[in-house]
Amino acid sequence: MMRLKHCHNYQDFRTLAEKRLPGPIFNYIDGAADDEVTYRRNTASFDDCDLVPNILTGVEDVDISVTIMGQRLDMPFYCSPTALQRLFHHKGEKAVAAAAEKYGTMFGVSSLGTVSLNELRKHKTPQFYQFYFHKDRGLNRAMMENASEAGIEVMMLTVDSITGGNRERDLRTGFSIPFRLTLGGMMQFAIKPMWGINYVTHEKFRLPQLDDHVDMSDGALSIGRYFSEMLDPSMNWADVEEMVKLWDGQFCLKGIMSVEDAKKAVDIGCTGIILSNHGGRQLDGSRSPFDQLAEIVDVVGDKIDVIMDSGVQRGTHVLKALSLGAKAVGGGRSYLFPLAAAGQPGVERALELMRAEIVRGMQLMGCKTISDLSRKNLKFR
Ligand SMILES: Cc1cc2nc3c(=O)[nH]c(=O)nc-3n(C[C@H](O)[C@H](O)[C@H](O)COP(=O)(O)O)c2cc1C
Repeated sequence: MMRLKHCHNYQDFRTLAEKRLPGPIFNYIDGAADDEVTYRRNTASFDDCDLVPNILTGVEDVDISVTIMGQRLDMPFYCSPTALQRLFHHKGEKAVAAAAEKYGTMFGVSSLGTVSLNELRKHKTPQFYQFYFHKDRGLNRAMMENASEAGIEVMMLTVDSITGGNRERDLRTGFSIPFRLTLGGMMQFAIKPMWGINYVTHEKFRLPQLDDHVDMSDGALSIGRYFSEMLDPSMNWADVEEMVKLWDGQFCLKGIMSVEDAKKAVDIGCTGIILSNHGGRQLDGSRSPFDQLAEIVDVVGDKIDVIMDSGVQRGTHVLKALSLGAKAVGGGRSYLFPLAAAGQPGVERALELMRAEIVRGMQLMGCKTISDLSRKNLKFR
């Protein structure tokens, strides 16, 4: 029987998560949009270049800390915001926040998070609040004020989800909130009874970031309808500029992919951009952030913190992105599978493996600090 101690990498955690989770939930995490071409390319893009080490540099002490958007992190990898974490493990965001705190890194809380911002503040590690833009401007202001009162360090507006991606695995299983399972989907829950027992014996599933403001009780509003009815597809640069001014602090846009948009983010006063395609879950056929990274760093890298996520599974992926000029790198599934596999100890093990891979990689590259990494250490094939 596979256990946490047998998990040595991303694929091991994924296998264990698949064993523990009912199929529809596993596929919600694992799946992506349309033909999942972008999802596959995200990780494959790291294989188009090779690391070129410099040896004999004296690497007994390696410092992998970084500072992004004014926040010091002990490692250059953080946990990207993801929705619905208490469906994956009953401790959800609490487990992720505690693990992030232990490793001195940042974590994001989604608008569709299942633990409140305030409850997570007890973890003394910087927190992103991931925000969606609503038609109701009063609601936007109220949510931002709430985040500000909670002492959130960095506001993160996701800009790649103006409408939901076409996730066909979810259509097949009937995954949605509230659940509308197909018969096949229901059968897959029936064969994983432990998940159901945990679900009903722990505190009630809630979406506290929203249900303080929106009636999500007893299925009054599904997540699908939340996206189609409450979010504002007319959101534009002027709206975001107003938000940046109102927040008056560290503010980043998640899902920037073009050079033009990166420049606009600088112009409206953002302090960071996250190159991301949402882990391939939105626009299939879109470019991978790693493929696009150098072009954007070249134009705005000295004016704004350029960060990336999507497809990162290894410490060497992080080293390649940092060598191109990213300031830090985020991951989604790389901590969600560990969360589903084993809760907080799972996320801790994943972060420990990532930390160890980055340190080992740095030593083998002959680098003592992150600033030693540069494009000289990278060769495209
Ligand atoms: C299950 C799941 C839920 C997610 N929920 C959100 C979300 O609520 N808001 C958001 O901005 N990004 C969300 N993301 C995207 C992640 O923040 C991140 O961009 C993505 O997972 C990176 O790709 P990776 O999984 O290959 O690391 C989600 C991703 C996954 C896998």
